Amino acid sequence: MNANTLKKKAAWAALKYLRPGTVVGVGTGSTVFYFIEALSKVKNLISGAVSTSNSSTILLKKHGIKVFNINHFPSLKIYVDSADEINYKLQMIKGGGGALTGEKIVSAMSKKFICIIDPSKKVETLGHFPLPIEIIPMAFSYISQEMIKIGGVPKYRKNVITDNGNIIIDVYNLRISDPISMEKKINSLPGVVTVGLFSLRSADIMIIGTNNGIQTLKKSNIY
Ligand code: A5P
Repeated sequence: MNANTLKKKAAWAALKYLRPGTVVGVGTGSTVFYFIEALSKVKNLISGAVSTSNSSTILLKKHGIKVFNINHFPSLKIYVDSADEINYKLQMIKGGGGALTGEKIVSAMSKKFICIIDPSKKVETLGHFPLPIEIIPMAFSYISQEMIKIGGVPKYRKNVITDNGNIIIDVYNLRISDPISMEKKINSLPGVVTVGLFSLRSADIMIIGTNNGIQTLKKSNIY
């Protein structure tokens, strides 16, 4: 099966975690595209969705799914998104699609984070996928130099302005053995809006679409 078929399988498997009347946090990207399709089939059972990006909002509305403003809720029960890389502790690199800030806010407010992936996203150590960092434009030189100091190779993501009006640096060549301390360190640099490391708030459940069916890993089984 090709990657898209496996993404679709994982996306549909996430439906079983939804309850009637739920407001679902919805991520961004090609895997989430399939989740939104699946969600549209149960749109009359759920209350609606909270979106992490303009692109997901457009897609949700196209499918007739109601989109709420996240600021109308103190928290959400469930968030469904994919990842660019995920390790066995369910820590992730995200932001390949540029929506990392919205994704971090909505995941932080959600009680359960379900990460839907095809098997290519699973890694031993994070960092083969370049680490996205959303920054304010004025911080470009400073953050680039700080990334070089930690052994990274920063690259400006051309022709991308985020939904929040910022720019993205992709940092290559990192081998992230301690995601939590790296997330904290990069978060603390002036000019950083969001680093695409999701380790302080990792996923709770990983659903993998495989050639042999669905595999599920729960954080509660790891720790
Ligand atoms: C969007 O900013 C990202 O965090 C995506 O969730 C991630 O890149 C996975 O995307 P795909 O499903 O397209 O691989």
